[in-house]
Amino acid sequence: MVLGLLAFWLVSAPRPLPASAVPAHTANAANGQLLYNAGGCKSCHKPNPDVAGLDSSLPSGGAPFKTPIGTLYPPNLTPDIETGIGAWSDIEFVNAVQRGISKDSQHLIPAFPYTSYARMPVADVLDIRAYLMSLPPVASPKRDAGVPLAFILRRGLGLWKWISLDTTAWMPDTTQSEGWNRGSYLVNGPGHCGECHTPRNLFMASDTSRFLMGGPHPEGVGKVPSLHKLIESKRYKDAADLVLAFQNGESFGYEHMSAGGMGQVQSNLAKLPQGDLEAIAYYLTSFK
Ligand code: HEC
Ligand code: HEC
Repeated sequence: MVLGLLAFWLVSAPRPLPASAVPAHTANAANGQLLYNAGGCKSCHKPNPDVAGLDSSLPSGGAPFKTPIGTLYPPNLTPDIETGIGAWSDIEFVNAVQRGISKDSQHLIPAFPYTSYARMPVADVLDIRAYLMSLPPVASPKRDAGVPLAFILRRGLGLWKWISLDTTAWMPDTTQSEGWNRGSYLVNGPGHCGECHTPRNLFMASDTSRFLMGGPHPEGVGKVPSLHKLIESKRYKDAADLVLAFQNGESFGYEHMSAGGMGQVQSNLAKLPQGDLEAIAYYLTSFK
């Protein structure tokens, strides 16, 4: 029993990246803004709706985010020193976004899609940080998760990560074109499309054998469609039609860009450069 507890404690301990994982890098805030939009950070880190006068365009955090285990309040990503990321070091930010470990060394709940962000090059994560640091600071204190036994759950997540957190970096497929690879990167890394579109196995890890084939909605209600055969099944005329769907969404009659979170994803995708949307559409329509 004691040995079992000891083993649990050791295996479930957070395993942060060392400070040496941060490369020498001149941050590019414009690239950071693009990845921030592709990553949908603002969709979850919205301002607390109970506080009047907050700028809704800033990710000051505190809005409720419902999950099957309870309500979470994605925290403040503005550079406020007291309540935001203003006093965080590069490595603290990288460990939160790529390993799901908070500044005070606790496991973060994977409703925050760090399992996908883990696949990004560290330099891209530093660019997102540079973009966030360029925003005006907003004071917006952290709200505690409405999750029973959050402390034990957080520690137990260490075990889950041991089984389910794949930290291999995204790699280009050298047999494919540059456009296909750009699409693959945006979908698998920042875009975290698989977090909803790939079903999960018994361990609640992405079932890579059914990559982007759709399944039950991770928030517990409804279904997420497969992203295979988007053209063959006549849902889109061609890749250009899919680009129009990403740019214009439901209001243009693309009715599968609405419910269950896709409407928000679509409004973030609409901010990406045309070339990046073409890359995503080209990549997705290669799945037969
Ligand atoms: C699907 C919702 C969702 C998206 C998208 C999302 N986050 Fe979060 N994020 C969360 C939640 C929920 C937490 C808190 C988890 C917890 O309490 O364990 C969190 C926590 C964080 C933290 C830790 C903050 C702290 O004070 O501990 C950072 C940093 C962060 N997110 C950055 C980002 C960035 C950067 C992006 C975009 C690239 C992003 N998030 C996208 C939901 C999300
Ligand atoms: C929060 C969960 C979630 C995320 C993340 C997500 N999707 Fe979706 N997606 C959905 C749901 C749910 C639908 C169905 C919406 C509807 O019917 O209105 C959908 C629909 C779609 C469709 C339309 C499929 C059809 O049958 O016409 C496409 C294309 C799509 N998503 C692509 C993406 C891409 C690309 C990403 C990543 C950048 C992404 N999705 C991320 C939940 C998500």
